Amino acid sequence: MLLEASGIVKQFGSLRAVDGACLAIDRGEVVGLIGPNGAGKSTFFNCLAGEVRPEAGRIIYKGADITALSPEAHARRGIARTWQVPAVFAEMPVRDNVMVGAFLRHHHAPAARRKAEEVIAFTGLAQQAGAPAGSLGTLGRKRLEIARALATEPELVLLDEALAGLNPTETAAAIELVRSIHAAGITLVIVEHVMAVILSLAQRAVVFHQGKVIAAGPPAAVIEDEAVIEAYLGARFRRRSA
Ligand SMILES: Nc1ncnc2c1ncn2[C@@H]1O[C@H](COP(=O)(O)OP(=O)(O)O)[C@@H](O)[C@H]1O
Ligand SMILES: [Mg+2]
Repeated sequence: MLLEASGIVKQFGSLRAVDGACLAIDRGEVVGLIGPNGAGKSTFFNCLAGEVRPEAGRIIYKGADITALSPEAHARRGIARTWQVPAVFAEMPVRDNVMVGAFLRHHHAPAARRKAEEVIAFTGLAQQAGAPAGSLGTLGRKRLEIARALATEPELVLLDEALAGLNPTETAAAIELVRSIHAAGITLVIVEHVMAVILSLAQRAVVFHQGKVIAAGPPAAVIEDEAVIEAYLGARFRRRSA
């Protein structure tokens, strides 16, 4: 077991965004985390990455309780995440943006730059390394977001809708990148709305609804699950009547 989160609760005022969620991740897995908007997926990621401290529950990573540790401590232990709304330094070159991640483990600029260059090549950004991050297209921004996470040399990467907003050709390229990350030995949890992405990448799908895991299993079986369909349809009906 690489990570085990149990009974995670995070409340915003009277809203329980995460309401007792449990998730165990084995080393080498690709887990797809799905569920309607507002289900608590990003907040749960924030708990796993140490950005948000849960009010209840425990997160055990490689045998140690990391629940109350800082985001930096999570990163140091090997957990990296991407943000649903990327926050890149738009005026800074792509290379320098990636170096920000590399500085976690490399304290001297030349070593951080070497690490950044390696990750830039791996993520297919070599041509744009010297260009300002703000000049990248959608796929380039996704690559950069992933590169910054990889530059911290993680063992577990949490992708929060890192593939959203891409056209089919770009999606295929992004899927290939995620596959190569997995092939490099990194464990992944992917939040993604496009089911084709989950079906092609994840070995296991976990469904979030109202802050809880309501179904889990092989992706193809899970998306046929009645409770899962109900969760999505419910959300759709609510949107329509809103
Ligand atoms: N910082 C916050 N303050 C107040 N409410 C929040 C905050 N972050 C998320 N929420 C609420 O928590 C619920 C879960 O949100 P989120 O974790 O972003 O869900 P998802 O990623 O599954 O769409 C939503 O109702 C959202 O509005
Ligand atoms: Mg989200």
